Amino acid sequence: MADLSVTVDGLKMPNPFVIGSGPPGTNANVINKAFEEGWGAVIAKTVSLDASKVINVAPRYARMRVGPKGSETIVGWQNIELISDRPFDTWIEEFKQVKQKYPDRILIASIMEEYNKDSWCEIVERCQDAGVDAFELNFSCPHGLPERKMGAAMGQDCEVLGTVCGWVNSVSKKPVWAKMTPNITHIEEPARAALRNGCEGIAAINTILCVMGVDLKTLRPEPTVEGYTTPGGYSCKAVRPIALRMVMECAKMIKTEFPGRSLSAIGGVETGEDAAQFILLGGNTVQVCTGVMIHGYGLVKELCRGLSAFMDSKGFKTIDEFRGHSLQYFTTHHDLVQRQASAKALEKAAAEGRVTKDTQWTGEKFVEQSNKLVAN
Ligand SMILES: Cc1cc2nc3c(=O)[nH]c(=O)nc-3n(C[C@H](O)[C@H](O)[C@H](O)COP(=O)(O)O)c2cc1C
Repeated sequence: MADLSVTVDGLKMPNPFVIGSGPPGTNANVINKAFEEGWGAVIAKTVSLDASKVINVAPRYARMRVGPKGSETIVGWQNIELISDRPFDTWIEEFKQVKQKYPDRILIASIMEEYNKDSWCEIVERCQDAGVDAFELNFSCPHGLPERKMGAAMGQDCEVLGTVCGWVNSVSKKPVWAKMTPNITHIEEPARAALRNGCEGIAAINTILCVMGVDLKTLRPEPTVEGYTTPGGYSCKAVRPIALRMVMECAKMIKTEFPGRSLSAIGGVETGEDAAQFILLGGNTVQVCTGVMIHGYGLVKELCRGLSAFMDSKGFKTIDEFRGHSLQYFTTHHDLVQRQASAKALEKAAAEGRVTKDTQWTGEKFVEQSNKLVAN
């Protein structure tokens, strides 16, 4: 039976499945539920010092479905939800309560602030005093917050991001992960800036900026709020291929430039097999947000079953045995062309009975094989 437990940056988890920041970690009730069901760790909904500035709208979700009417599958999910609108003091009380109830489980605070050293230091210090085990820095929310130069606006500016990571790491006694935005051309650049400035790990990806669609009856884009909308963040199955690519890019950079730093992979995970792919591309842990909104907290059991079955089928006993294994198979297009040309040349030689390796010489066809190697 495969061992799913992982230790990442000193954080011990029964399995690599982590609740990604969002509605599934939005208050103590649901965080407790996640631990009851067996999630490896929970990243709470992103908090800030002054929740009064956070004003949500409804509707704030829109879904992309495919398949025959009546049995459609949700493949894409847009949200225009902001970070937590609950008071910071309430959160501090709830962090304490959760850690009292589940002292051995990993509770990670997701934090976001404006570009101000004192605010970042205060939020870190107050959360760590409340007992959280680690931090995730939200540099990646693509909508609403960038209007206040927060979230993705910080994540797209390596200098600002690096400075904030430096502030956080100057006061944090806990591991710090920086959560990257995918709304950028080269994700490894902000990831590098975070690691250079002391972060233990990278989390990727947050949602992809999108417009879900336009209602052809009303001619209004969705989700429509009082007739209008604003672009939001895309998640769920449809983003998985993009997330896999970006996780691979971060993993390669970490492997060559910051060996030993961690990577928390996120984007469209709903099965143990999805998770196995992210681990094969270098993820130490795998986060799930939209999947929990669709299937509920019990999903973790199915994730563990699927991942375990994959590991048994390949004879992997631990996560570390296969983590990052598939990174070696990425190369350039130029190299693919060369590899294909060499393979074709070998195929042609074999078809013509030409020896290309000394092991191919046989006693029976020795003279014939010699003749085939003569120039003219
Ligand atoms: C409704 C909703 C709210 C979210 N809120 C947050 C948030 O507060 N902070 C954050 O870092 N990410 C937030 N996310 C992003 C998720 O944590 C995750 O990065 C993203 O949705 C991709 O993963 P998924 O396909 O498993 O959902 C939110 C996502 C959704 C769908």
